[in-house]
Amino acid sequence: MKTVAVVGTQWGDEGKGKIVDLLAEHADVVVRFQGGNNAAHTLVVDGEKFVLRLVPAGALHPGKTCVIGNGTVVNPFGLIEEIDGLKRRSRLRDDALLKLSYDAHIVMPYHLAIDRAREARLGKAAIGTTGFGIGPAYEDKMSRMGLRFADLLDFKDFTVRLKRNIAEKNLYLKAVLKAKPIDGKALVEAMKKARTRLMRYLCDTGVFLDGAIAQGKRVLFEGAHGTMLDIDHGTYPYVTSSSCIASAVFAGSGIGPGSLDGVLGISKAYTTRVGAGPFPSEIVGSLADAVREEGVEFGSATGRPRRIGWFDAVLARHAARVNGLWGLAITKLDVLSGIDPLKICVAYEIKGRRYDSMPPGRGALARAKPIFEEMPGWMDDLSAARSMDDLPTNVRRYLERISALTRVKLAMAGVGASRDAAIVIENPFLA
Ligand code: GDP
Ligand code: IMO
Ligand code: MG
Repeated sequence: MKTVAVVGTQWGDEGKGKIVDLLAEHADVVVRFQGGNNAAHTLVVDGEKFVLRLVPAGALHPGKTCVIGNGTVVNPFGLIEEIDGLKRRSRLRDDALLKLSYDAHIVMPYHLAIDRAREARLGKAAIGTTGFGIGPAYEDKMSRMGLRFADLLDFKDFTVRLKRNIAEKNLYLKAVLKAKPIDGKALVEAMKKARTRLMRYLCDTGVFLDGAIAQGKRVLFEGAHGTMLDIDHGTYPYVTSSSCIASAVFAGSGIGPGSLDGVLGISKAYTTRVGAGPFPSEIVGSLADAVREEGVEFGSATGRPRRIGWFDAVLARHAARVNGLWGLAITKLDVLSGIDPLKICVAYEIKGRRYDSMPPGRGALARAKPIFEEMPGWMDDLSAARSMDDLPTNVRRYLERISALTRVKLAMAGVGASRDAAIVIENPFLA
C-alpha cells in the first residue's frame, strides 16, 4: 500500500503517535487531516520524549514532509510554540518540510474563552473538553464566520472580519456566558506577528498531496482522537467536534476516496477515556489505579487522570465497520502483565436484552452492562519481544481472540513506549 490512514478505535490516546512515528520511516509525507491541538501524540525516540499537538508525527524523521490539512483547526500561537520547541531540539529545521493548508481554520482566543466559560457553566454536566476552543472553532467554520489562513493574505480585509467576530463574541461572552471579553486590539496585533511567522508554511496542501500521490510517494494520514469521540459515530454528546474516522481523510486533506489504500486501526489492549461520558467496560478501584500507574495513563494534553476499562469488543467492531479497517495495532500489551484473569467485554445487556453492536439512543450506553469473557493473563515482561514467537502463549491467545471478535487481522502490537518496542506482523506499506 502507498497511502495509509491511522485512526484511533477507542476514545483517543490509543498510541497513534507512536505507531505513526514508527511507520513514518516508510513514508514520504505525513498528514494531519482533522482536529486541533486537543490532540496530544507522544513519541519516545532514543529515550527522548516528544508530545506533538498539531505537527504530524513524521517530524522526528529527517526529510519527511509534514502536512497540516484543511480539515484541521489550528491555534496559530500553539503551532508557533510547538514549532519553536521542535526547532530548539534540532527537529523541523527545514521550513519547506512543514506545510499548512490555506484552508485550515484559525482557532482564536475567543474560541478558548467560550469553550472554558461554557464548561464552567455546565458544572457537573460538562463534557470535560480540553478547553482548547475546538468546538467553538468548528462551530464558526460551519456557521461560515470562521477565519482561515488564506484570509491572512489580505491582512486589511482579515482585520475587518476579525474585528467583526470579536465584537460578536465579546457580546456573547459578556451577556450570555458572564465571562471576561477578549482584548480585540491585542489580538489583532498578535495575529499580525503570527502571520509573519506562519506565512512561509502556507500551501495548497490538496494539490501538493495529489502531486505526491501521482508521483508514487508514500503518504501516511495521522488521525487524531478516536472513533468513539467522532461527532457522528461516537458517544454523542460526549465527543469532540470533528469527524475522526477514516472517511475524514478525504474532506480533511483534499484527495478522493480512490486515493486511500488502507486503514490501520489503533487500539489499546485495554480501554481508556479522558473526560465525561459513558464507559461500559470501566474498572474502578485498585486495579484501575494499578493500570493507570503502570500505563502512565494521564492525559498528555491536560494532565487529567485517564479512566480505565477492559478491552471492549463492541466498540472495536463498531470502529472496524465505520473505518473499514484493513488491520489492527494493539498497543500497551506490556501494561497488562501481572493481571490474571483478564476480561474482554464481548456484548452489552440492557434490560435483559443482549446487544452485540452499539445500542441506540442517548443514555443507552450509560445503562449498558458489560458481558465479559475471561482470558488467562500472563506474568512475563514483554518489553523485549520483537516477534509473535517472542510472546507467551496467553498473549498470543488474547490477541487472536481480539482479532476473532473484531474480524480484523492483527498487523502490529506494542510492548513499550519507545519507537522500537513493537512487533510488526504486517507493515501496511509493505503489504
Ligand atoms: P495518541 O494520542 O493516540 O498518540 O496516544 P498518547 O500519546 O496520547 O498516549 C499513549 C501513551 O502510551 C503515550 O504515553 C505513549 O508513549 C505510550 N505508548 C504507546 N504505545 C505503547 C506501548 O505499546 N506500551 C507502553 N507501555 N506505552 C505505550
Ligand atoms: P488524541 O489525538 C483523548 C476528548 C476530551 C473530551 C472530548 C471533547 O491525543 O487521542 P474537545 O476539547 O475535543 O472538545 O473535548 O474529547 N478528547 C480526547 N481524549 N485523546 C484525544 O486526542 C482527545 N481529543 C479530545 O477529553 O472528553
Ligand atoms: Mg493523545
